Amino acid sequence: MKKPIIIDCDPGLDDAIALFMILNNKNFDIRAVTPVSGNQTIDKTSINALKLVSFAGSNVPVACGASKPLYKELVTAAHVHGESGLGNVVLPDPKIGFSELNAYDMIYQEAVKHNNELEIVALGPLTNIALTLLKYPDVKDKIQRITLMGGSSGCGNDTPAAEFNIVADSDAAKIVFESGIPITMVGLDATHKALVLDEEINEIFSYKNKVSELAANILSNALIFCKAHGFEGAVMHDPLAMACIIDPEVMISKDYHVDIETKGTFTNGKTVVDVYHVTGKEPNAKVGIDIDRNKFMNILKEAMMNYEL
Ligand code: BDR
Ligand code: CA
Repeated sequence: MKKPIIIDCDPGLDDAIALFMILNNKNFDIRAVTPVSGNQTIDKTSINALKLVSFAGSNVPVACGASKPLYKELVTAAHVHGESGLGNVVLPDPKIGFSELNAYDMIYQEAVKHNNELEIVALGPLTNIALTLLKYPDVKDKIQRITLMGGSSGCGNDTPAAEFNIVADSDAAKIVFESGIPITMVGLDATHKALVLDEEINEIFSYKNKVSELAANILSNALIFCKAHGFEGAVMHDPLAMACIIDPEVMISKDYHVDIETKGTFTNGKTVVDVYHVTGKEPNAKVGIDIDRNKFMNILKEAMMNYEL
């Protein structure tokens, strides 16, 4: 049986690669893509999501989500992903339209339909999922797992303490981590090892199908920012989270309790990971600590080479 999933995202250069990794995968029944504001404003992340789905030849419903965080002001990551949210990449107009449902109704309806079989891959701020939990509290018993890109057991990438997706809506992250839904946290400890190098980008381009060529262009855009920040390759945060749902063995994780700081002057958005079990609280997340990079690259390459010319 195909695994039912929903992809919540804010495309976003690395979100785009993550979407391309799964949209042609026959083992998954992608019920919806639910864009959220984050890397860019919701008008941009949602049209990017629609164009990416359409470009990949899919007609998965795209149900638009939150235009701002639950309580705080919206702060985007235009300095990373550009004004459009996709660097200098230009996509053709989509052949499909948006779903009439909004993200939280879509998530709830699908959760009910697939009672405790549905999994969510969350690649942006957790606003849509928190809103679903606030509007439909019973949804917590109907979602099998949330695999989310976010957080870190150490330093942040948006502030010294916090990773972007969590700090962008720390109140939403707190609701999700306290919901009781099983969580896989794909944070910076793991994603900073999911690098795609120059020669690997060239290899992906050489598959010569329209998705692999576009993906190589997106990866090259990401590479410029990442090299300027001291990385050897393009850091693929969201694709690692997607790889985890395709093959959980791609990431080595440990069970920890994670609390979310929502107030600290310097630490808002920090994922406080109880590595030494000092709180006595039960683990609420599988926290990624390392990856099998070969496996990651194989998953990425296989997806890219299997698109039609
Ligand atoms: C996360 O923040 C966003 O800019 C990326 O798309 C990724 O989801 C990395 O911190
Ligand atoms: Ca993202």
